[in-house]
Amino acid sequence: ESQQPTYRIGFSQCSTAGPWRQAMLDGMKRELSFHPDVELRMLDAHDNSQVQQQQIRELVRGGIDLLIVSPYEAGPVAPAVEEAFRRGVPVVLLDRRTTSPHYTAYVGGDNLEVGQTAARYAARLLNRHGDIIEILGTPGSSATSERHQGFAQGLQQYPNLRVVSQVTGDWTEKKLPALTKALQAHPGVALIFAHNDGMGRAAYEACQQLGLAQKVKIIGVDGLAGKNEGLDLVQRGLETASVLYSPGGEDAIRTALSILHKQPYKRENTLGTIVIDSTNVRTMQQQTDKMLTQQEDIERQQGLLQRLQATYASQQTILYGLLAT
Ligand code: FRU
Repeated sequence: ESQQPTYRIGFSQCSTAGPWRQAMLDGMKRELSFHPDVELRMLDAHDNSQVQQQQIRELVRGGIDLLIVSPYEAGPVAPAVEEAFRRGVPVVLLDRRTTSPHYTAYVGGDNLEVGQTAARYAARLLNRHGDIIEILGTPGSSATSERHQGFAQGLQQYPNLRVVSQVTGDWTEKKLPALTKALQAHPGVALIFAHNDGMGRAAYEACQQLGLAQKVKIIGVDGLAGKNEGLDLVQRGLETASVLYSPGGEDAIRTALSILHKQPYKRENTLGTIVIDSTNVRTMQQQTDKMLTQQEDIERQQGLLQRLQATYASQQTILYGLLAT
């Protein structure tokens, strides 16, 4: 008995690579499991703005009631998002923005604040004195420009903290040859600010190869649970700190549903951030473990409910059969 969905949500995802994007999708599905009348269709642009534009147009053509989009690059993806919005499709930007002001709501962390927080932490850690290398995400993605801008702003009041080199890591954990060169050119570097934990981990490896791992402190961003993710890196001392940046899948679906149900919603939905370091990493890990257990409980209950409903339906069929004879 396939029922027509009441609402169709299209989701244009810049990439599905890596656990952070997976956590985002898991969060969406978790929230959607309470709304079986809502259908989600996701297309993965594989970090390609051209492809993402085509996919957004395809989603709109296929008929959707709302578009959620996490744009790869802010400028190139903007026209397709604007087109959708102009056609009356509500648009929820998730995690990254476009350059266009035409959207319905934004859900995600404040990336300026992420950069500022990293700068403040670096200043304290280095006692306001030292050379820094910054590893940026993909140029042209809003998270990169905002984290960079926030970091630069945050450092302004510390004249003895200098960014001596900037390299781009394109958000990936691929080896960073440019970083190795930068470290060789500036062997006295005291700290690396990596725009995400994946690049932070790659930075640790580069430092280790040059025998600098004990000298260089690393700050990353994301603070995800799981092996080799932010919490684990901080716990094992590979990173000194990670600035939490939540994927926000649940929040995006909640905002989307408020818009669809014509309920009040906020246009800017900023997810909070916090520095994770040796002082609170255990607590953070315990919290995420607890959340995962609770999630498993919810799934078990939902399974049980479905089985009960199926049993009830078949008993009714038998009952009606008996009554008819
Ligand atoms: C994952 C990711 C995260 C980062 C975010 C920024 O694709 O690179 O590591 O925080 O995207 O948009």
